[in-house]
Amino acid sequence: MGKIRKIGVLTSGGDAPGMNAAIRGVTRTAIFNGLEVVGIGHGYQGLIEGIFRPLVASSVSDIIQRGGTILKTARCEEFRTPEGRLKAFNNLRNQQIDGVVVIGGDGSFTGARIFNEEYDLPFVGIPGTIDNDIYGTDYTIGYDTALNTVVEAVDKIRDTASAHNRMFFVEVMGAEAGFIALYSGIATGAEAIIIPEVKGEARNLKKMLENGNTRAKSSNIIIVAEGDEDGGAIGIAKKVKDEFKDYDIRVSVLGHLQRGGSPSAIDRVNASRLGHAAVEALIDDQKSVMVGLANGEIVLVPFRKAVKLHKDVDHTLVDLARVLSV
Ligand code: F6P
Repeated sequence: MGKIRKIGVLTSGGDAPGMNAAIRGVTRTAIFNGLEVVGIGHGYQGLIEGIFRPLVASSVSDIIQRGGTILKTARCEEFRTPEGRLKAFNNLRNQQIDGVVVIGGDGSFTGARIFNEEYDLPFVGIPGTIDNDIYGTDYTIGYDTALNTVVEAVDKIRDTASAHNRMFFVEVMGAEAGFIALYSGIATGAEAIIIPEVKGEARNLKKMLENGNTRAKSSNIIIVAEGDEDGGAIGIAKKVKDEFKDYDIRVSVLGHLQRGGSPSAIDRVNASRLGHAAVEALIDDQKSVMVGLANGEIVLVPFRKAVKLHKDVDHTLVDLARVLSV
């Protein structure tokens, strides 16, 4: 074993279903390897305020199936400041913590990267966000569950849309990225999908409405990613309504229900794998890296790359969605 004897684990940023499975994976792997584990509450805020509690094997019993995060989470402004990071470092030193596993998104990894430039105390990241928008990993914890939640919701909306011959604009989460929108759109047979990665989709939608195909259908579902440039589902629906007055239009913004619920089997298994890999990385003296999954295999990606480079959607899927929605 290297110099790591005691590790900390925290969740940061927006919660995602499967974070608990990752906390369990980290805790049990650490204990298996003879390490002590400390749970840090409320993300980086807890590092700064010293919210620490020891985790033993039974601390993570009965959590693999639960959404949210038992450690709580936060978006912490203070960790962006040198003073905040110094407080965090001092608390870690006082607790004799030799390494930290951060479960979160790119904002959380940006903080971890800066901390690791300033202090010789290794941080390793696990991608946890429903948005699936982190470079270097095909997968982020919570994305699969959120996607299935959206599909279930849109299937229900389809029933009522068909019953009334209506057009629905459904807004989904994803921050600046369109992964949830694109995949849920294909999975629900959406008539159109509007995502930030494809410019001018709102104009294409207009053409589609003009050519009349949509009128022949008993229902139309347009999935809109919240990060789209055209003003989200409400903004686009308003423009369409102004121009195509004969359409019976409704809007549904799915919101935070996409973040909750019991994680899918895929999220539980992947989160367990990533939790295990993060502890192994710390034992192997890695620092300032994220553990990810690429082509089904565990990979290590420097924070520097994970936060700087842009992960694009697969544009062949954009084409596929167009073909299948004629
Ligand atoms: O990053 C996860 C996410 O749910 C995004 O999809 C969304 O834009 C954002 O968090 C919402 O954040 P908050 O819960 O802070 O409003």
